[in-house]
Amino acid sequence: MSRSGAWFDVCASADLLDGGDGVRFECAGADGLPRSAFVVRQDGRVRAFVNRCPHRAAELDWLPGRFFDDAGLYLVCSMHGALFEADTGDCVAGPCLGDRPAPIACEARERRVRVRCAPVSLPNRFPGSAP
Ligand code: FES
Repeated sequence: MSRSGAWFDVCASADLLDGGDGVRFECAGADGLPRSAFVVRQDGRVRAFVNRCPHRAAELDWLPGRFFDDAGLYLVCSMHGALFEADTGDCVAGPCLGDRPAPIACEARERRVRVRCAPVSLPNRFPGSAP
């Protein structure tokens, strides 16, 4: 089920370890279609993004829920290996340097992680993306 507009629960806060696996969820895009999204933790803070690389719109995780590189420092794209800061989503290496996956509001509170999807921030396709 995809959701947008309201805060909703994604997982237990304990499910997200620093630099560890993320949790996938779905949000509704502006057209009402579901978009893959994910939440991860780094330096104790949770961050959520649309699961689409700004280069060619590939899903970022190289295995389901695996978003970080081996060192747990950067988010890495499964397609061409672009590296993204987990804090900001900024691409720091790769073909989409300076771009970022769309961020999603998120918070860890009372041992749960919640997100709030804004449809306008959830594009289905990106300029130059492959069909
Ligand atoms: S699709 Fe992500 S780096 Fe090319």
